[in-house]
Amino acid sequence: MHVARLSLTDYRNYARAELELGPGATVFVGRNGQGKTNLVEAIGYLSTLGSHRVSGDQALIRAGADAAIVRALLSHGERELLVELQLNRQGANKAQLNRSQVKTRELPRYAHSVLFAPEDLAIVRGEPSVRRRMLDELLVQRTPRLAGVMADYERVLKQRNSLLKSARARGLVADRLPTLDIWDERLVDLGAELIDQRLALIAELTAPLANAYESIVDADHRPELRPTLSIDGADPDEETGGRTPSPADTESATETAGIEQPTSQGQRTTADRFAEALGLLRPKELERGITLVGPHRDDVVLLLNGLPAKGYASHGESWSFALALRLASAELLRRDSSTGDPVLMLDDVFAELDRLRRERLAAAIGGFEQVLVTAAVLEDVPEPLTARIVHIDAGQVVESETTDV
Ligand SMILES: Nc1ncnc2c1ncn2[C@@H]1O[C@H](COP(=O)(O)OP(=O)(O)OP(=O)(O)O)[C@@H](O)[C@H]1O
Ligand SMILES: [Mg+2]
Repeated sequence: MHVARLSLTDYRNYARAELELGPGATVFVGRNGQGKTNLVEAIGYLSTLGSHRVSGDQALIRAGADAAIVRALLSHGERELLVELQLNRQGANKAQLNRSQVKTRELPRYAHSVLFAPEDLAIVRGEPSVRRRMLDELLVQRTPRLAGVMADYERVLKQRNSLLKSARARGLVADRLPTLDIWDERLVDLGAELIDQRLALIAELTAPLANAYESIVDADHRPELRPTLSIDGADPDEETGGRTPSPADTESATETAGIEQPTSQGQRTTADRFAEALGLLRPKELERGITLVGPHRDDVVLLLNGLPAKGYASHGESWSFALALRLASAELLRRDSSTGDPVLMLDDVFAELDRLRRERLAAAIGGFEQVLVTAAVLEDVPEPLTARIVHIDAGQVVESETTDV
């Protein structure tokens, strides 16, 4: 697919902007702070229902305005779809598809994009929540139904946590909580599906990741993705918080919580293991007043040459790993999507790379239907991607030019 037209109203520093776009590559050029990232952020929002820079929506609405509108004409082969999203300062956001109201949750079905941004370094170096989010966003783009499962899981988790908290306040003991059992069942049903979906996704990403890494770096550093599951005793959120993980963490974390590891021949389902972990941890959960196991506490450890990239990999290697993950995600979406290629957006990506890697990355993404690039310095962008240049100045699209490349 590609975005044929983008219009913004009161989005970030844009009061009003209209932009015609075509397939192929387009570069948004302008000095720092003019609104280049804001453009790709707006498109990205349509496919992930979130910004890669902030968690809430308030900062996306232009200062002084009550609502922001992002409208995009999406071209899916022969078919055109008009999607519209209204971000409200107060009250729920609203969405439209071809001018009829739909749930905002429906938008990612139609808008597929992959954004490469400096913030992606946090996938390698940041907390487990960043990696969970990366996987979940990709899952939703591939299987939109899962957005509902994730929302339900979050709801059940919240309910369960407040039940645990009130039980703790009332000094209740573990075996006298029949209502908790009911919530446990829901939590396990929804959570096991999410865990299995993430595991399957991680497995599917493995080969495209290796290809993508090699195509950018021209060396095989054996990039690997190793899931660590809280239901098997790992607790990534607590164990690695703030300190450098050791290679042993990734191998033996599962033994630390005293939960028996399933044998490889074991036929126990994810749901069985989840339920068992909840049973074992109930006293501890009551003591803490929070749910200690489930997909909200899982992680995926990224390894290069067998060592955790977090804490071991160089800046350039970490950055290449993050780019390779995005590229691998794009490959997966392209492979199995009925909507064709996702829109690739590269925000300030080239400035960070040496010339050879720039060229290799440009070659790797060149075949995608639409590629949108932002750069403060046009010379940083490899030539094949500069066919169309759009100048951005103080929240306005000032001019566009086409060069003969
Ligand atoms: N809600 C908002 N209302 C008004 N202006 C905003 C809002 N949010 C951000 N801005 C402004 O948008 C500008 C930043 O835009 P953006 O991040 O797109 O810049 P950029 O062109 O990508 O710059 P750089 O090259 O530094 O990455 C800043 O000047 C910022 O103050
Ligand atoms: Mg920017």
